[in-house]
Amino acid sequence: MKLVIRSATVKDIPSIVNVNLTSTTKEGIQGFTTSEWGTFSSPEELKKAWFEENRLNDGSEIMVVEKKEEIIGFIVFKMEQDHYYIDNIAITREEQRKGIGTILVTHVENTAKTNGYSLMKTDTTENEKGIPWKAYRFWIKMGYEDTGERLSTKWDFKTIPFVKNLK
Ligand SMILES: CC(C)(COP(=O)(O)OP(=O)(O)OC[C@H]1O[C@@H](n2cnc3c(N)ncnc32)[C@H](O)[C@@H]1OP(=O)(O)O)[C@@H](O)C(=O)NCCC(=O)NCCS
Repeated sequence: MKLVIRSATVKDIPSIVNVNLTSTTKEGIQGFTTSEWGTFSSPEELKKAWFEENRLNDGSEIMVVEKKEEIIGFIVFKMEQDHYYIDNIAITREEQRKGIGTILVTHVENTAKTNGYSLMKTDTTENEKGIPWKAYRFWIKMGYEDTGERLSTKWDFKTIPFVKNLK
């Protein structure tokens, strides 16, 4: 399977939103997220958040992965003062569990290393019952460490921060 990883452009907005919306089911994510985090859920919102090239207004960058010229996944990340932060990642449902998420995260980790960074951070959520979102297992498999913190949000779910040392 030939995959192409490249920087996103503003023309990719509809495909990125489509990947985001088809990476989960509405029922599945209930209790783990909020529509207020909706930047990637509508082309209009994502357009508003887009700055230039593959960058958003908050300084984050977007890379996409293509299979047969079709976008099947994306990753959003940001260089912070002492670490790289992965803000979002999504793969279409039919392409999940084929190693594509691993390829995207590894790509960003290699970019971080190339730029002299050795610390990665990301997060996921757990619902009000304390059940983590399914991406939890993905992050653990990728070598990310659950910090043990559970950060309250104004909704019923909590945020679980992860860290990974690249050394
Ligand atoms: C999380 C996500 C990006 C993972 O991408 P992916 O391409 O499916 O992941 P990979 O195939 O590289 O998985 C690598 C390993 O992670 C673990 N993993 C991935 N998804 C998992 C799941 N749903 N349940 C349990 N373990 C999982 C497995 O160990 C997997 O290896 P295996 O398939 O050989 O067992 C993808 O499932 C997705 O888009 N989910 C919806 C959006 C989302 O949750 N984004 C993250 C927000 S925090």
